[in-house]
This record gives sequence, structure tokens and C-alpha cells, in this order.
Amino acid sequence: MKQLRIPGPTPVPELVKRAMIKEMINHRSYDFQKLFLNIQKKLKKVFQTENQILIFSGSGTGGMESVIVNLFSPKEKVLIVSIGEFGDRFIEVAKTFNLQPIELKFPLGSAAEPKKVEEILNRRKEIKSVIITHNETSTGITNDLKKIAKVVKNNRCLLIVDAVSSLGAIDLAVDKLGVDVVFTASQKALMSPPGLVIISVGKKAWDKNKKARLPRFYWDWQKAAEYLAKGETPFTPAIVNLFGLDASLELILKEGLSKVFSRHRQIGKYVRKRLTKMNLELLAVDTSFASNTITAVKVPLWMKVDSWLENLKKKYGICLAAGQGELKNKIFRIAHMGFVNISDMRFVCDKIEKELSSSLKNVKI
Ligand SMILES: Cc1ncc(COP(=O)(O)O)c(C=O)c1O
Repeated sequence: MKQLRIPGPTPVPELVKRAMIKEMINHRSYDFQKLFLNIQKKLKKVFQTENQILIFSGSGTGGMESVIVNLFSPKEKVLIVSIGEFGDRFIEVAKTFNLQPIELKFPLGSAAEPKKVEEILNRRKEIKSVIITHNETSTGITNDLKKIAKVVKNNRCLLIVDAVSSLGAIDLAVDKLGVDVVFTASQKALMSPPGLVIISVGKKAWDKNKKARLPRFYWDWQKAAEYLAKGETPFTPAIVNLFGLDASLELILKEGLSKVFSRHRQIGKYVRKRLTKMNLELLAVDTSFASNTITAVKVPLWMKVDSWLENLKKKYGICLAAGQGELKNKIFRIAHMGFVNISDMRFVCDKIEKELSSSLKNVKI
């Protein structure tokens, strides 16, 4: 595939691929400890935190489950703010574990309104924790985490953030904002293959973890922290993925976090401008919340989106993502996160433009 532009897995740089072709090592050895602690140091820089960072083998959804089982007790209330599929998935996971989530949903294509979060926290003092998606991958919207964090902190609640499609591409200063728990997965902005969930846990979250009564075994944060202290994981880790992550974090830090963020900002702006010029409509109601890692485009009435995307793939090696859930057949999505530059997106936009004009010639009005 010339351009894999789906929201994960994303393209993996050559250097990262090469770092993964190595002999296996003993995960209870000095070599592993050195690798694992080195990754920990790099992750702290990328997460902009002094918090402990736990790594599990698994996918982003595992991160959701891990958060729920480590922080909550049966029947506990938690405010879950949802602006799309992944916020909704968190609600589902919470319900599965017998929590009583209070759902605050916003229309697809919109960001969460901090005022509404504030209203509900003022009204319902029994809420002690808030879960929110930083960047909603299903709609291409980024929430204003700065404002949300302020509201949540003013109400002395614990803030848990799903940053699966933002961390490492969109600025998320964990300590500065005081976000208690933030998690991501390896296969998006971190330019590594799927396989790892990475979770930053702050002091208040550790206090809550000690009181949380839901059962846990594989995802147990305390066990993970005990092993982390000696540079290991409780169970056999995905060693190949860790080789890769070590190399991809190195690349991110070498470029410099602020440069990485501004590259994504520029690319996001470029893609939106090009698509708008093609008379395509973005799903984002207010483009100031449009994501810089993924753009959701409304499907024009004449377009049979599945075959149109298939055509792009066959003709040019460009793989884009369809809509999910309610947005199936209504949008398509172009991911631009991680290992991506302007010329990649110029190629993608040029080919979209070319295909649009040739398909439009065949549309009977
Ligand atoms: C914001 C967000 N959260 C959670 C997930 C779930 O991650 P996974 O598919 O790795 O389980 C995704 C996946 O795209 C996501 O974008």
C-alpha cells in the first residue's frame, strides 16, 4: 500500500521496521530491563508527565477496560462525555462492568461543550470521575481538553482521557493540564504496529485505584507498577512491539514534540483546505475543532462510497477509512497521523481530486 491513511494501523517508518527484526531476548534479563526503562523515560517526555506509565500488550479498547477495572467499583457513577463511536464504546465497557455511567452526548461532528460538562458536575455532586475522548476518531473532532480539564478540576473530579488517536500528534500536556489518567495505543500517532496500550497514571488515580473493587487480573495496575519498578512486566510482553516503540519514540523526540505537533497542524489545515476547494463538505460543524490527525468528509449524494474507496485503493494504493456506526455510508475519513508529511497528503488529495472530477463526468443529473 502506497498510502495507508486509515486511523490505525498507520504507516511504520523504515527505521522502526528494522528495529523490530531482532533476535528475541529474555524478558527477565538486564537487556530487557534496559529497553523497558529506556522506553519509560521516552514515554514520559512524549506524554509530558512525571507520572508512572504502564505498558500492556493489547489494543486501545483494552486501555478502556483497564481504566474501568482499575478505578471503579460496581454500581459506581461516572460521567462519560461522548462525541462519537469511541465515547460510546467507553459507555458500553462501563456498563459491561456494572458501573452506572451518566452519559453526556453531543451531536456527531461537534465537540463537547465545557459549559454543559460544568452544568452537570454542578448539578450532580455524586459524580467524582469524568471520562472523555480527546480526539474522536469516528468524527474527526478534537475536544478542547484545556477547558474541559479546568472544569473537571474545579469540581475536584478525576479526569480520564482516551488519547488513542491524539497522543504524540496533538499537544496533550498531561501534567500541565492535570489529567489523572491518559492512555493511547501504539498503532496511531506513535508510528508503531498495533500491539501495545500505554497508560499514564497520576497520584489521585493511584489513590482511587487502591479503593476500587472491580476484579482485575491481567490489567492489574498495581502488579504492573511493581514489575515496572524493576523494569519488567508481570506477564510475557510483546517484545517485538517494544523494540519498535523504542525506535519510534526516538524518532518523535529527535524531531521534537513541538515540531511534531506543528507538522500535524499544518497537514490538518492543508487537507481541510484542499477538500473544501473540491466542494466536499467536512463533517466538523465548527472547523476550529476539526482534528489534525483525521478528517471526516461527508459523502456526496451521488457517491457510492465503498466502491469509490475501493477504486482509490486499486488505482493509486491509497487506503482511506469508511464511516463507522451511524456514520456508515455518510462519511469517509482520511487519517493523517504519525508517519506523514505534506507531500503524502498532496498525493492523496491530488488523487481524490482527480477521481472526483472523473466520477462527476459519469454522474447523470
Ligand atoms: C479514540 C479511540 N479510542 C479507542 C480506540 C480503540 O482502539 P483499538 O481499535 O486499538 O482497540 C480507537 C481505535 O481507533 C480510537 O480511535
